Order: sequence, then structure tokens, then C-alpha cells
Amino acid sequence: MRRKIVAANWKMNMSLYETENFWKVFDTEISESTNIEIVIAPPFTALYKLSELTAKSQKVRLGAQNMHFEKSGAYTGEISATMLRELFVRYVILGHSERRQHFGETNELINKKVLAALASQLRVILCVGETLAEREAGKEKEVVEKQLRGCLKGVKPEQFDDIVIAYEPVWAIGTGRNATPEQAQDCHSAVREFLSELAGKEIAQRVRIQYGGSVNPSNAPQLLEKPDIDGALVGGASLDPRNFALIVRAAESTQSS
Ligand code: PGA
Repeated sequence: MRRKIVAANWKMNMSLYETENFWKVFDTEISESTNIEIVIAPPFTALYKLSELTAKSQKVRLGAQNMHFEKSGAYTGEISATMLRELFVRYVILGHSERRQHFGETNELINKKVLAALASQLRVILCVGETLAEREAGKEKEVVEKQLRGCLKGVKPEQFDDIVIAYEPVWAIGTGRNATPEQAQDCHSAVREFLSELAGKEIAQRVRIQYGGSVNPSNAPQLLEKPDIDGALVGGASLDPRNFALIVRAAESTQSS
């Protein structure tokens, strides 16, 4: 049984004031005994605040949206895994398509970050997904396989338990156009196949695969009931505490015991 994992990716949004207001509402919407894992990845500037706010409740784990692969040094503007650990960050999102697209991140660079995060006991949410042109050319699985092989190079089988894969078709991110549950399931089961080749069938069965791309409270229930969809990575809809709570509830109600 895989425990579902729903993560909020706030991207470059949310001031400290907005973070506090979000938490006031979200905290009351979510029960202490939730049967799924909830992660919030705010911008770096709100990590400390959110870490203080969430410390008491233990309902939510903290995530970061990026990190550098070195531990420290002359890397102006960067943040290391050690610094994230100090703020009680448990997860780091790596390989997001916006970082690939706007900041030139390659599979090779992302691989360095994955290895560094794991070595610092951070869990990784690794994003993969094809562009619209790649899907139209029928190449989505090929692209995703290449990303997985490149980004997970050198990861030891026993480290796969600290990895979550987020399948996020680029054409569905922030566009309001989500993949259908069938399209998503098809790619998720292909991802699991690739993971079996990389780490063995038993381990691949344990790895959680999130879907991301225009997830909202109305499409979440159908997506999350698919057998290989183990959670969601949510951008836009996670900025509203009530909407995000509804997505969490959809995950809770599709969680098999
Ligand atoms: P979206 O973003 O939910 O706004 O489409 C998802 C993501 O980028 O992780």
C-alpha cells in the first residue's frame, strides 16, 4: 500500500503575511489524523515562518522548490541542502519544468542535485514530463524515460524510498488543461515500468508517483482514484487553503487502507 502524498508548490508566490493567513485556514481544515502525507513548498523566504507555524501541528511536512548541489561556497544566490535541513525541510522539488525551461537545468545538473539531496537526508520530488510538441509527436514516454534515467543516475536501489516522482506534462502546467485521468494513468504506469528497470520491481511498486498540471478540487477525485496515481503536485490551486484542503480530502478518500 502506497501512502498518498499531496504537495503544494507555491512557486514565486505568497508573502509572509499571506503564508500566515493560509496556515490559519488550512490548519482548521485538515484533521490531525490525516491518512495521507501533506507537503508545502513555499518560496525560500517563507520557509522559516512556515516551519514555525507547522511545528506544533505535525500535519504538514516542509518542502523546498530547489537547491544547489554543493554544501556551501561561492555560489551567490543559492541555497544548500544543509541550509534546508536546518529549517526542518524534509522534501525538495527538483527538475521542475519551469527550472528546466527558464533556468536551463539539464538532466545532468538535476542528477547532481538529486544525489546531493539524498546524501543530506532530504527526500526528493523529481519532476518529469513532456512538452506539447513531444506529446503530439507521440514521444511522451520516450522523453520521460530519458529524464528518469538521466536524473536518477547513480541512485542506489535503497535510496528510491526517499524519492517521489511527479509526472507533470508541461502543457498541463498552469494552463487549466489537465491530462485526462486515462492519459495520466498511462504515463504513470510507464514511469513505474522504467523504475522497475532501474531499481527492481519490488522497489518500483513502493515509489509514489504524483500527477501535476492544473490539478484542482474538481478534477482531483478522478485523477487520484487511478491505480498508479499516488498523489498530486499542485501549483495554482494550492495558493487557496480551502481549495488545497479539498484536494487533500480527495486524496484521503481515495487512500486504500
Ligand atoms: P499548476 O502547477 O497546478 O498550477 O498547473 C503545477 C506545478 O507546476 O507543479
